[in-house]
Amino acid sequence: MCHEYPSKSRPHPDLRSKSTFCLARMNKGLIHQAFVVSNAIQSDAVTLHEIAVETNIDAWTPDDYSEEMSRKDSIVLKAENGSSMIGFLAARTVPSSISGVDADIYNIAVVKRFHRQGVGSKLLTALRKELIKREVQYVWLEVRSSNSTAIHFYKNHGFEMFTSRANFYSNPSEDAVIMRLSLVEK
Ligand SMILES: CC(C)(COP(=O)(O)OP(=O)(O)OC[C@H]1O[C@@H](n2cnc3c(N)ncnc32)[C@H](O)[C@@H]1OP(=O)(O)O)[C@@H](O)C(=O)NCCC(=O)NCCS
Repeated sequence: MCHEYPSKSRPHPDLRSKSTFCLARMNKGLIHQAFVVSNAIQSDAVTLHEIAVETNIDAWTPDDYSEEMSRKDSIVLKAENGSSMIGFLAARTVPSSISGVDADIYNIAVVKRFHRQGVGSKLLTALRKELIKREVQYVWLEVRSSNSTAIHFYKNHGFEMFTSRANFYSNPSEDAVIMRLSLVEK
């Protein structure tokens, strides 16, 4: 989970078991064809939730994802391998009194068996292009300090550690690392 908002409720346990079932049916192994990144649509909401649960990020409910997709300031992207969704990203533009427009990344997750095959990178690259079009200056995110995989991934994409927040997360309690990517041309 990148951001934790109190308004986002925890997933219903029934949806968790459905997630395990559906994801277990997906092909196991390497990506067998070029995967495609596109905008997620309302009917993807349950699958976004399932992937969030499978990857242990702070999953929003399908309704939360659905609501997010209906916002003009929101960008929800999905990566598909054939007809299976294998990753997604949710971000939102936010007004900034200093820089004009910034963006927050809320979720990015790739189905575990497809990790380290460039899916997260392709999602982030597509987001970056869209944010440049929307004249965003800085992209922000929060990540658990123990999530070294994600921190490494973000650094690889030009994010810098900006500051940290003690005990930002609960269950388990943990510090957050705040990371920032500058889209301002130097
Ligand atoms: C973080 C995450 C989205 C990365 O997705 P991914 O598709 O595996 O990432 P990519 O294959 O595009 O990796 C790009 C680069 O990130 C870095 N990286 C990714 N996974 C890494 C790992 N396990 N260890 C070290 N570096 C890693 C590498 O530099 C990698 O490039 P390389 O493979 O050429 O060395 C994925 O690990 C994930 O879904 N994690 C669980 C959910 C999560 O923690 N989300 C972030 C919450 S804030």
